[in-house]
Amino acid sequence: MSTKSDLLDLLKKNIGKAVSGQQAADLLGVSRNAVWKAVSHLKEEGYPIESRTKAGYCLTALPDQLTQEAVEKDVHADIDVIVKDTVSSTNDLVKAGDWGDRPVVIIANRQTGGRGRLGRKFESPGGVGIYISFGMKPSFSIAHSPFVTMAAAVAVCRAVEKVVGIETNIKWVNDIYYNRKKVCGILTEAQTNMETGVIDRLIIGIGINCFPGSFPPEIAHKAGSLADHAGAFSRSALAAELINQVCSIMNDVEDRSFLTEYRRRCFILGEQIYVHPLSSDKEIPARALAIEDDGGLLVEYLDGENAGNREVLRTGEISIRLHDQENVPRT
Ligand code: ATP
Ligand code: BTN
Repeated sequence: MSTKSDLLDLLKKNIGKAVSGQQAADLLGVSRNAVWKAVSHLKEEGYPIESRTKAGYCLTALPDQLTQEAVEKDVHADIDVIVKDTVSSTNDLVKAGDWGDRPVVIIANRQTGGRGRLGRKFESPGGVGIYISFGMKPSFSIAHSPFVTMAAAVAVCRAVEKVVGIETNIKWVNDIYYNRKKVCGILTEAQTNMETGVIDRLIIGIGINCFPGSFPPEIAHKAGSLADHAGAFSRSALAAELINQVCSIMNDVEDRSFLTEYRRRCFILGEQIYVHPLSSDKEIPARALAIEDDGGLLVEYLDGENAGNREVLRTGEISIRLHDQENVPRT
């Protein structure tokens, strides 16, 4: 366990009462400086900790907790719900489980090995986010699976609007933005039965930054959160609504009726973007024009020998950078 989580446990046990820096240092077997640093990190993550002169540090309220009971009470969908504190990756946990035919959803308060596409890291600090993975046997043919991520993105926006009361937007194809910062990423994976070659289960993983967390410098410029302080809304309520919305929108994957809303929420349409082919270091300036009926992104290149050429991009081959986030290090 880290000093930060040990200190948090100590402050929680003494909620409303001050614990002196020296007392905390002695109990945790660390220096006062280490305690001070851990307090700073916890404050950055949104924990309401007061530094009281001569008395010490006081956690004034219990931050919003993700609990099985609180989530389950608002879930109307027919799905098994499992809430955990810390896991490596909820996607991996769903994959590893033998859940039978019933859909399952695993939610974690923190991930130590959260990942995005191509094994990239998805920062998943505790107490400030929701990390959730659905395991579902698709009722539709595999030909429709490219639309699952897009449908899930719309479901996230609907759930956020209902519970948090703010309008979020989509960056094609799998990211949700608020105030031009990424607040959510989606990673859909398929589990195939090696004997039959049929998709057994779709794993839809969604990570949402609810409250400010401490992010490493490489992503600090682009990662945002839905609210500016911990406890601004209930993470359990958002998780429950997300489960309801995802389960419901999966019925629309075949007829793609969610595409109109996807297009409306896709804020890059009409904007200048950078197309980054995953196979190279190039950043190609382009204008995003439209989402095609097959889910591809139609762009027109703006520079060089390709200027004026149009192409429909498919997810998996490329990443999209925003024009105003171009001059920052790639992660
Ligand atoms: P992007 O355009 O943001 O790189 P992507 O969909 O192309 O997204 P993925 O590789 O699937 O990329 O997502 C992982 C990326 O998301 C990381 O490389 C990092 O840039 C960013 N990231 C990691 N953790 C978080 C987080 N908690 N919030 C926002 N962005 C994050
Ligand atoms: C992205 O940023 O584009 C995708 C990130 C997906 C992160 C979620 S968090 C829950 C689930 N578990 C993981 O390891 N990844 C997904």
